[in-house]
Amino acid sequence: MSLTVSLADRINALEESATLGMTKKARELAAQGHKVISLSVGEPDFKTPKHICDAAKKAIDDGFHGYSPVAGYPDLRKAIADKLKRDNNIEWGPENIVVSTGAKHSLANVISTLVNPGEEVIIFSPYWVSYSEMVKLADGVSVVVDGAFDNNFKVTPEQFEAAITPKTKLVMFASPNNPTGSVYTEAELRAIGAIVAKHPNIFVMADEIYEYINFTEEGHFSIGSIPEIKNQVITVNGVAKGHAMTGWRIGFIAAAKWIADGVEKLQGQVTSGTNSIAQKAATVAFNGTLEEAYKMKDAYNRRRGLVVGLLREIPGFKVNMPDGAFYAFPDISAYFGKSDGTTLIKDSDDFSMWLLDGAFVATVAGSSFGAPNCIRISTAAADEQLVEACERIKAAVATLK
Ligand SMILES: Cc1ncc(COP(=O)(O)O)c(C=O)c1O
Repeated sequence: MSLTVSLADRINALEESATLGMTKKARELAAQGHKVISLSVGEPDFKTPKHICDAAKKAIDDGFHGYSPVAGYPDLRKAIADKLKRDNNIEWGPENIVVSTGAKHSLANVISTLVNPGEEVIIFSPYWVSYSEMVKLADGVSVVVDGAFDNNFKVTPEQFEAAITPKTKLVMFASPNNPTGSVYTEAELRAIGAIVAKHPNIFVMADEIYEYINFTEEGHFSIGSIPEIKNQVITVNGVAKGHAMTGWRIGFIAAAKWIADGVEKLQGQVTSGTNSIAQKAATVAFNGTLEEAYKMKDAYNRRRGLVVGLLREIPGFKVNMPDGAFYAFPDISAYFGKSDGTTLIKDSDDFSMWLLDGAFVATVAGSSFGAPNCIRISTAAADEQLVEACERIKAAVATLK
């Protein structure tokens, strides 16, 4: 008798992470000997600052080898509470903080903790690839609201209000944004906050993972600092981008205690407390100087100018000026329907794959970020690589007729 087995429906329904998919293909081409410039991954090209690495080594020597409390070590949660007060004007105690295995894990935890099947999650688009898939996993319904190119890809308060229904449970967005680099101003966030205040059953997930990579004069504003909606906002952040610690896998939420308790309960059954050594390193990152983080920010800012300048020279490309993060997000739709004689470019997926196959430049199609006219180009690479990538892109598109 033969058994018919298959994956669970929830996994069959899941999309593969587009950014990781592109990176895999780029690695394969590189292994075949091609000179691939990989600008698809969302990762700082800097090393973790030394004082943070030293803290990890000390944690090993000091014997932090066992299970940690599910929500994180008390000194780390205290360091995060202090950081939130210092940088974000958010006053929560350690009991409101849950540390997880990266901000990605924190986001997924919150969605699973709050969203019931059929409840709606408003996602400001363009959005980070995993948001809609996390909502799907929780049997929630994504309601995607598009930010217009002419508004620097930002959703207006009016658009947000129009998307609210009796089923809305959560609204989520990242500022600074991946993939667009857009930063919501304090005025914009206060206007969004005023709408949230009218709906006590709606929660806001503020993804602030790019907080320290913000080039605006105004600087970062946290929607969680607005007193009227403090209990409705879940602030998510971590160490990956600002401190160049992607592999260490530390993220956190700060939220009302009943939400933090729910997340802790879930995490206690699924993963337990995250890596003990990384927690000790993160404690030093949150308590310590931001000097290195600001140096990295300055480098990203310089590269932003370089890449946006070069991309704007390419005929047909429409390029916004990102205010934060380390991505350029050109609209390349002028090339849809064109061909190099062999390959017809129908959409951003075709464009991105064609660039990788023909020019060996790895980017990510905007379709996976809810923006099918664009491609995402990471600027977290050496200047020479960025210049060469832009030159290759320019030469490649010149062959499209
Ligand atoms: C907007 C956004 N949120 C969250 C994350 C996840 O961060 P972490 O590496 O801490 O899981 C990323 C990583 O690319 C991101 O771009």
